[in-house]
Amino acid sequence: MSENCRSAGGSPASNVILTLENIKKSYFVEGHKIDVLRGVNLEMKEGEHLSLTGKSGSGKSTLLNIMATLERPDSGKILLKGEEPSKFSDSKLSSFRNREIGIVFQFHHLLPEFTALENVAIPLMLTQSKKTALEKAEKMLERVALTHRLNHKPAELSGGEQQRVAIARALVTEPSLLLMDEPTGNLDNETGKMIIALILSIAEERKLTTLFVTHNQDFAAEMGRVIEISEGVIRSI
Ligand SMILES: Nc1ncnc2c1ncn2[C@@H]1O[C@H](COP(=O)(O)OP(=O)(O)O)[C@@H](O)[C@H]1O
Ligand SMILES: [Mg+2]
Repeated sequence: MSENCRSAGGSPASNVILTLENIKKSYFVEGHKIDVLRGVNLEMKEGEHLSLTGKSGSGKSTLLNIMATLERPDSGKILLKGEEPSKFSDSKLSSFRNREIGIVFQFHHLLPEFTALENVAIPLMLTQSKKTALEKAEKMLERVALTHRLNHKPAELSGGEQQRVAIARALVTEPSLLLMDEPTGNLDNETGKMIIALILSIAEERKLTTLFVTHNQDFAAEMGRVIEISEGVIRSI
């Protein structure tokens, strides 16, 4: 067991896409300090699929949010595609995140007043014409087998369909890194398995680097290298 979870075969870092070095994060709640991450080291290679497991409250979401550049660590270094996002201005950081990182949460976070097609097109509208955005969104929804649900609003979709829209939204910008925080946590077992198979096949097609956070050990095993977070550090399983 090693706290220093580097990939096997560790030759030169040329195909390493994400590096975390000694990441620490604490929260203060009512005067008490909670050390959530106590020095996390991790390397992910391009195209690698990694499952992150750990008990509830062990810091999985905190780590994912730091990798997603949504939260800053107290100390430590993050390198993503050779860049150090912590050094970016807020506007550069949000365009970098929009371009490079796709994120799927347990609850879909789709915008309720917009259709599936619009929800998927929105991330593209920042940088592309509305027409192109809608065309690309439609193709992406076709890939997750939702062509028959383009004009449905989130409330008119099943849980599995909502997550497929969320996956399409996360991938429509063609990010290099896909981060998923318990994307199957709110689904029944069969639908969860279907979602995992779908994610894996898209990830293979696109050579996506993926991090899959789950407390479900069976699902974790299907998704490549498995690491666990415990006592604020990670180890291989
Ligand atoms: N914004 C926050 N403020 C204070 N404590 C937090 C905050 N976010 C998370 N925590 C605490 O940090 C710990 C890890 O939380 P989290 O990363 O959500 O764990 P997990 O996703 O593994 O369930 C928990 O004890 C949680 O209560
Ligand atoms: Mg969590």
